Amino acid sequence: CGIVGYVGDQLPSARPLEVVLEGLRRLEYRGYDSAGVALVAPGSELATAKKAGKLVNLVDELDARPLPAATAAIGHTRWATHGGPTDANAHPHVSGDVAIIHNGIVENFALLKAELVADGVTFASETDTEVVAHLVARAYDASKDLTDALTQVARRLEGTFTLLAVHAALPDTVVGARHDSPLVVGLGEGENFLGSDVSAFIASTREALELGQDQVVTITPTSVSVTGFDGEPAQARRFTVDWDAKAAEKGGFRSFMDKEIHDQPQAVADTLLGRTDTTGRLVLDEMRIDESVLRSVDKIVVVACGTAAYAGHVAKYAIEHWCRIPVEVELAHEFRYRDPVVDDRTLVVAVSQSGETMDTLMAVRHAKEQGATTLAIVNTHGSTIPRESDAALYTHAGPEIAVASTKAFLAQITAAYLLGLYLAQLRGNKFPDEISAIMAELRQMPEKIQQVLDRADRVREIARWMADTQSVLFLGRHVGYPVAMEGALKLKELAYIHAEGFAAGELKHGPIALIEPGQPVFVVVPSPRGRDSLHSKIVSNIQEIRARGARTLVIAEDGDEAVVPYADEVFSVPQSSTLLAPLLTVVPLQVFAAELATAKGLDVDQPRNLAKSVTVE
Ligand code: G6P
Repeated sequence: CGIVGYVGDQLPSARPLEVVLEGLRRLEYRGYDSAGVALVAPGSELATAKKAGKLVNLVDELDARPLPAATAAIGHTRWATHGGPTDANAHPHVSGDVAIIHNGIVENFALLKAELVADGVTFASETDTEVVAHLVARAYDASKDLTDALTQVARRLEGTFTLLAVHAALPDTVVGARHDSPLVVGLGEGENFLGSDVSAFIASTREALELGQDQVVTITPTSVSVTGFDGEPAQARRFTVDWDAKAAEKGGFRSFMDKEIHDQPQAVADTLLGRTDTTGRLVLDEMRIDESVLRSVDKIVVVACGTAAYAGHVAKYAIEHWCRIPVEVELAHEFRYRDPVVDDRTLVVAVSQSGETMDTLMAVRHAKEQGATTLAIVNTHGSTIPRESDAALYTHAGPEIAVASTKAFLAQITAAYLLGLYLAQLRGNKFPDEISAIMAELRQMPEKIQQVLDRADRVREIARWMADTQSVLFLGRHVGYPVAMEGALKLKELAYIHAEGFAAGELKHGPIALIEPGQPVFVVVPSPRGRDSLHSKIVSNIQEIRARGARTLVIAEDGDEAVVPYADEVFSVPQSSTLLAPLLTVVPLQVFAAELATAKGLDVDQPRNLAKSVTVE
């Protein structure tokens, strides 16, 4: 989500609202399913307006029902996590004289909510954020100090958050707090700003402070004071913004695609947040399918298109292995036209970033007609596919702006693992401690993805050298096979290069005829620590193509010495169990495609002929 805060020393005026709306306009890439503002002025009540849909809906609302002049304001543009995009779920959330906006996920909100409900608090929305509003209002009533109130509440929250708070009695103050989610301060003359990134205030000032982890900031027109969650004074880093407004939106990256590739550790971490209860049991609380139905499912069919379909392939390997339920993966547009065998014991899982892909939607409708239960793994709340499905499991990748999918893919794979583990838990295929162990490993994946990104310079260098390449092949086995196909798809989409992904075992049945001297081939190598002979098989495949002159670009686990003699280049990734490795091994392939396309001078965010959501069949 995008957040903006403003406080100025003029008399009440239109400026606070103007600044906040301008900031929201620039932050719309962070979320655009609803927007809202809260204004404070001396001697008056909080004034708020909020609307589902794009920012323009809020602007129309403000034109129809103007808000009074103000001295301070906060504004929010939302990308839903808990609770769909409705007017009521839009931020700010108000409790008494306090208004709160929030970016992130409060993982322990159910517990805190239960406590408040037991105390007689009634809730106006389904969001995790409203919990914070009530808690801050109560803490303020006790201490009469908004900074202290927000600090106390921040200490109780688990998850990720940037929070901004205003109080009707404090027309010259906005307070912010952050934990695992960004917050920057813009320094003005007689006015100060807060934002989830500098694009929130870049039109007004380029002098900024970056808050550190677990810090609270209180801004007035003439002061900025920073404290830690312990209440002690703290230091924030001062910097001058030297980006232009367009680069600021991209967090300083060249493209949304580069930014989104770098957002992947966060996308995976956020998709994992809030999925277990205090005992470590998985609770996929958006899933509204009766547990008895899920227990009796005897087949799963994953339907999706493009990148999402490759996430579906990874889902198949994981779910079959963990749950012993047969899983088919089918391109959504093929599924419904071939009279598939689907009945009331089939679970059809539709995977889609946008939730609007017409082919996938039609597959869902067809599945429902056949009596199947339908589950959507989707990134966009309020979209059509989850609305028409029996249940939804949302990925929390945040809005994806670049047309070709990257962070949504990793989030989809993560959600597929969660689904597999949830079914295994429900159906008793796995012991609770086995599930906890896999969850623990999953929670380490964001850090490992970060390590892959930190090592990506060599991939970029090679990509630039290969800018004139006409064809690239990708090989993989097991879950490396869908990774190979996704690597090829990224290269087609971004760099317009002929590329194909194969199952490495299929090589000798045809594709090896394509190998001629100099042909670049990426090979995704499974862990040598895996149980079966998968690893040695793929090493043989590398030898076979190398012997025929291929240029081998090998993605292998740290410490895998066996591939070295046959690799022209090794891109190593941290160790992981075989099933989880796609979260790591696809990253160098994404970086490769994006860098090669950039070297060719192409627009990686908007490749020719493609659309972000394809709403025709
Ligand atoms: C389009 C995009 C692809 C995407 C596919 C599925 O073809 O160009 O990048 O993977 O749609 O989109 P969805 O929103 O359903 O995940």
